Amino acid sequence: MGFIVGLAYNLKKDCPRSDTEVEDADAEFEEQVTVDRIAKALRAGGHRVVKIPYRPGLLSRLQRLNVDIVFNIAEGWEGRCREAIVPAVLDSLGIPYTGSDPLTLAVCLDKAVTKAIVSASGIPTPWCAKVNSMDELENLGTDSLTYPLFVKPAYEGSSKGVRGSSKVVDYQGLRDMVSWITTAYMQPALIEAFLPGREFTVGIVGNRDITVFPIMEVRPMVETQPESFVYCYDTKHNNMEEFLCPAPVTDELADAILDVAVKSYRALECRDLARVDVRLDGAGVPNFLEINPLPGLSTVSLFPVTAMASGLSFEDLIEKILEVAATRANIAERTAVQAQQVIAGQRHRTVSVRR
Ligand SMILES: Nc1ncnc2c1ncn2[C@@H]1O[C@H](COP(=O)(O)OP(=O)(O)OP(=O)(O)O)[C@@H](O)[C@H]1O
Ligand SMILES: [Mg+2]
Repeated sequence: MGFIVGLAYNLKKDCPRSDTEVEDADAEFEEQVTVDRIAKALRAGGHRVVKIPYRPGLLSRLQRLNVDIVFNIAEGWEGRCREAIVPAVLDSLGIPYTGSDPLTLAVCLDKAVTKAIVSASGIPTPWCAKVNSMDELENLGTDSLTYPLFVKPAYEGSSKGVRGSSKVVDYQGLRDMVSWITTAYMQPALIEAFLPGREFTVGIVGNRDITVFPIMEVRPMVETQPESFVYCYDTKHNNMEEFLCPAPVTDELADAILDVAVKSYRALECRDLARVDVRLDGAGVPNFLEINPLPGLSTVSLFPVTAMASGLSFEDLIEKILEVAATRANIAERTAVQAQQVIAGQRHRTVSVRR
């Protein structure tokens, strides 16, 4: 027998969005098919699965369920601490879960805070400034800015608020993007030095001992000027990029990319899994762009694709994530009899004692 696993997630169809919201408002949330696929992989590993959609009543449901561990892919709905909410609830109930703790998840969703930590650890990352309003933009001392710059929402993922127009070459373009982000996404805009070089992403699993999956390069399908390539909402929806895994890089470049990825994972105290985005600057030096401690696990997500390039199946990957989390949390699998007792207890709405 294995574990009784709670699977926590946010479904796109439950996303509280209004017609006035941007087209990518629900981009980070899951399709039912992704949840079902993870559940199937967990069952294939010998575990019982209880689906826990992110909805009102989550806390009392978790209190009642008596799961051994939660496989957490829940993103929360709103705010820069949204990804920290489920782990914080689980911590308060003493229930182990896969992935990073609330602090790391909240930090990593705010790209400026993340970069401050990464930069303090001596990892190269482009210059940035976070502005909340047009007034703050004026106060930046705009004459001193060096173009091109890149403008994106400070607290998003899944390419939300990133478009071809995110690369700006003058003050007018900068103003337009800051105005759009602060209004449409109702959060600060992150202004970054534009990195003109090749782009890579690195999947990592583990804690004290880590496994780094083969480096993936993301590049434009149609050969354009490298400066103009941005992996964003527009390119994703028009299939304009290709993914090479393992990336065609020299050993020296591979080492430098992995150094950035692994040092960032450690500096941000990530647990169990994460995907790190890296891009080369004008001198060919790998820079940290951002980290995803809750990387997508859909069929088209980059993290499982890098895992598969290392020879793991999707089922192997899900089992590995669960295994490293269970080892870290020091929990043991149940016997079939124990599992049956718990399930019988739940049927009678009594909560048996957690081990
Ligand atoms: N400073 C930069 N210079 C050049 N390109 C950038 C820069 N910042 C972001 N980009 C481009 O925009 C893309 C999306 O940016 P970023 O990875 O920060 O957003 P995200 O929405 O968190 O991504 P993900 O889809 O990985 O969650 C990057 O993959 C890269 O192509
Ligand atoms: Mg990214």
